[in-house]
Amino acid sequence: MQRPAPQDFRRVLSSMCTEPHPAARDAAERFLATNPGDPATYRRVAELEDRAVSLLGEVAGLSDPHGYVTSGGTEANVQAVRAARNRARDRDGADLSRTYNVVAPESVHFSVHKAADVLGVELRTVPVDDEHRADADAVRAAADGDTALVVGVAGTTEYGRVDPIPALAEAAREVGALVHVDAAWGGFALPFTDFAWNFDHADVDTMTIDPHKLGRAAVPAGGFLARERETMDALAVDTPYLETTSQATLTGTRSGAGVASAAAAMEALWPDGYRREFESSMADARWLARAFEARGFDAASPELPLVAARLPEDLFGSLREAGWRISRTAGGDLRVVCMPHVTRETLSAFLADLDAPA
Ligand SMILES: Cc1ncc(COP(=O)(O)O)c(C=O)c1O
Repeated sequence: MQRPAPQDFRRVLSSMCTEPHPAARDAAERFLATNPGDPATYRRVAELEDRAVSLLGEVAGLSDPHGYVTSGGTEANVQAVRAARNRARDRDGADLSRTYNVVAPESVHFSVHKAADVLGVELRTVPVDDEHRADADAVRAAADGDTALVVGVAGTTEYGRVDPIPALAEAAREVGALVHVDAAWGGFALPFTDFAWNFDHADVDTMTIDPHKLGRAAVPAGGFLARERETMDALAVDTPYLETTSQATLTGTRSGAGVASAAAAMEALWPDGYRREFESSMADARWLARAFEARGFDAASPELPLVAARLPEDLFGSLREAGWRISRTAGGDLRVVCMPHVTRETLSAFLADLDAPA
């Protein structure tokens, strides 16, 4: 029987996953049978996780980072909301009947909606500005004494925009809330830009930053970072039957492959490799945006390597039929994520199909 083969990435234009770096692929295979959820038993992978967290801290401007390698951005966002809710409860001596809220721009990833649902907190989403960025005044107006967390996105899923993180952090502090930055996708591109997005730029408490997106680790490898140990304490439960006595992660048994691969990818690429990839994909994104404009399709000017453009419905449909894996924003715009596997050659082939008569 033929062995099933995964699809190749050649026509994948709207995904935030990509080909793992060769060193990351190799590390994933080697650590396949290890469980960082039981770090006292699986010590080698636990050491690699410490290294991964330390490197994530370097990427995100945090010198003494706490955190771990999650299953992805969803888990990291759930943990950020959970930590903030638990810390607010501890601070207020509140019982379980008090409902806390999270304030976020409407551009926030749907994983935060899931987090609010499973954790019993109210999610207040506020409109974004004309450039698809969070509006700090709208966030301030929605926040109150029950706000446990304000979320900003550094690299939005739909438009690749960076929210005004320092202004959001100020709005959060006015009501005593914690601050979470979702840099799940943007985190490995932003160090090479002028945006103020990280722990060093603003009073940020927690961050999502995923090696399995622009970090080029194998799936599953998300990242959760916290400035303070107390945040991890707020997530910890007792683990009587393990060699370790408590666990702050959401999942129990976890992928050693993801952890080892995250460490290997960052060792190989931080910082110069990521810089090179960012510069090349950013040039491609700008080139593609200009190509759309030249054809009369409105395209948002890219801030990170993601292009959103207004394409007619029938054209979008025929490109999908031609095998291009493309998706649209809630507002109907085509989004092309210039991940490392998306080359200029691929984009030229895509434009050739776009230009071909139906
Ligand atoms: C900004 C942002 N946050 C969170 C996530 C969720 O990440 P994951 O799919 O790894 O759970 C995504 C996924 O694309 C994202 O773009």
